Formats: sequence, structure tokens, C-alpha cells
Amino acid sequence: MKRLILLGTGGTIAGASAHAADVDGYTPAALTVEQLLASVPHGQALQPIETEQLFQIGSEDMTPAHWCTLAQRTQALLERDDVAAVVITHGTDTLEETAWFLQLVLRSAKPVVLVGAMRPATAPDADGPRNLADALLLVRSPEAQYRGVLVVMGGTIFSAHDVTKRFAGRIDAFTAGAAQPLGRIENHHLEFFALAPLHLEEPLPLADTLPAVEIVYGYASDSRVAVDALVQAGVQGIVYAAPGSGTLSVTMRAALCDAVARGVSVVRASRTGAGRVRAHTHEADDARLFISANSLNPQKARILLMLALAAERDRGNAPRGQEVAYPTHLTTHLTMDVTRIQQLFDRLG
Ligand code: SIN
Repeated sequence: MKRLILLGTGGTIAGASAHAADVDGYTPAALTVEQLLASVPHGQALQPIETEQLFQIGSEDMTPAHWCTLAQRTQALLERDDVAAVVITHGTDTLEETAWFLQLVLRSAKPVVLVGAMRPATAPDADGPRNLADALLLVRSPEAQYRGVLVVMGGTIFSAHDVTKRFAGRIDAFTAGAAQPLGRIENHHLEFFALAPLHLEEPLPLADTLPAVEIVYGYASDSRVAVDALVQAGVQGIVYAAPGSGTLSVTMRAALCDAVARGVSVVRASRTGAGRVRAHTHEADDARLFISANSLNPQKARILLMLALAAERDRGNAPRGQEVAYPTHLTTHLTMDVTRIQQLFDRLG
């Protein structure tokens, strides 16, 4: 019988406190993934499970380097003939980012499911064991194949594309935003609502290093300090989390235009939490200068931009970061870059 792999990365699901009643003052990433598996009734019974502790951190400490290591390890495991699926335990704070990164780079039809918990493992009403049991049930289902990377929390199944942590402390912290969840698990019964496979036929290449892309948060202001400082620091991309549907104040437009002119790729996203950002057709230059995030939130738009810029770089296209004249003498190269990356956002975002 093929085996399941349980990869541990830490988080509250592996959290422990000295006093069981203390659900705030706990140490995250304290228990091993083997200990987590032991807390799942009959976790091992149906199928052999191999455990591996890849990291032992809170997910606020996840970095692009961790994503690359995790993706390489997961890909290697998925390529093993004796492996049926991979479950990854993860802190909830940046779980959606790791899930989205893996969704974009993994090449396999086998199920990959990320799972976390809102309460530490030592809490009397810990949600981790149930969530982990649900994840193990989910990856065993033939229906979980060709679905891309999935997340299960509180009995709800989400796609990596849609899932986001909406509430800081609620037990049902996750939502699919403007989309619907993919399915539910109730009392060990699994039901998918959405039929469409979410598996990528052509994942993005997994680079060893990722370009520096930062997020600038938009709010009522006439300051351009953050954008100018990032450009000065040499970032290759900026995602602007605009207050609405990607709108830019006069000051922000000027700052971001200057960033583009310095070779920085700029994505317009929205801080609202749901909905699409499309090219502003009433602003003639916008589609040539800026990439629109489509329905990706800023943190996921950042990941797609990082991978897109890495692919451009590894394809041998001229590195960004050169001075180009703005606005009347934009080079064809710059416009082609924006068009090619926009096509990715239109297809995947
Ligand atoms: C973390 O993201 O590692 C801490 C919070 C959590 O797991 O819920």
C-alpha cells in the first residue's frame, strides 16, 4: 500500500503551554509532527504514514527560502512511486502564502494538503487533532487528485488560490473571500462542491533564489516615502495594496511611475480582501506600466510576481533595475515584460 507523508513545519497546531487552560501564552512549534500524529485517533490505521520534521517554526518566520526548501522536498516526495500524497502541518498566519507558492510550482496530480490549528495542541478543546484527521481523510480520497494544493481548516476545504486568513483569533479564521470553498468534511464524510480540477498543467519553474518584491500598503496619505525607500534599496518588484480596486492617488501614481522608470515591476492589488483589480482603461499608460493583480490579494500577488520575475531572469531576459525614460520613451522590452507578466496574472490570478 502506498504511503502518506506528513511533513511538519511548526505553528500553533504544534503549540504547547505549561497550563492546558492557557490558549494565549503558549509556545508555538513545540511538539513534533510525530506527536501530532499520535493525537489523531486511528491516524495510522488505514495507511502507512511517514513523518518528517522539515522546520519547527511559527509561520510568521516563514521566508521565501523556506518556501523553496519545502517545495523542493515536497516535489521529491511526490515523485516517489511509493508515496500517494503529502500533508503539511503549518502555522495559520502565513499558511495561505505557502499554499499558493506550492500551488504555483509543484508538478504532480497527487494530493497536497496544508493544515493548521487556531488553538495549541495542549488546549482541552484543541482543533489540531480534528483538522489533521480531516487532512488525512482528504488526501486519501481519489477526489483530491488533480485539485492542486488544498487547505483544510474547521472541516472546510479551500483552494490555495482562494484561501485567506480573515480573523485573527476566531476558530473559523479562514475564508475563500469572494469565492466559495471547494468542499466540506463533516463527521468523516467528505463532499466536494466544486468539480473543476485546479491542477496546473504548466507550473512555474522553481528557482533557487527569488527576486526581492515588497508590499506597500495604501491609505489616505500624500507620502511616497515607502515607495522611494524601496526603490532606493534596490527591490525588483513592488505590490501596491491599494485602498480600493487598484486606485492610485496622484502622489502614489507619480511614485510608482518613477519606480517603473527605474526598472521596478509594479503590481496593483487591493487591500479590501475580495474582488478583482483590472487594468484601468481610462488611464492610458496604466496597462503598459503596471500589472493588475486580478483576484489575488497583495501577499499572493507578491508570490506570483516573484516567480514571474525569477522566470524572466532565468529565461535570460535582461535584468530589470535599469534606468529607462518615463513616460514617453518606454522601451519595447519594458512593455513586453509587463504584457507577459500580466498574462500570467490573467491566467492564474
Ligand atoms: C503561526 O502562524 O505559526 C502562529 C499562529 C497559528 O499557527 O495559528
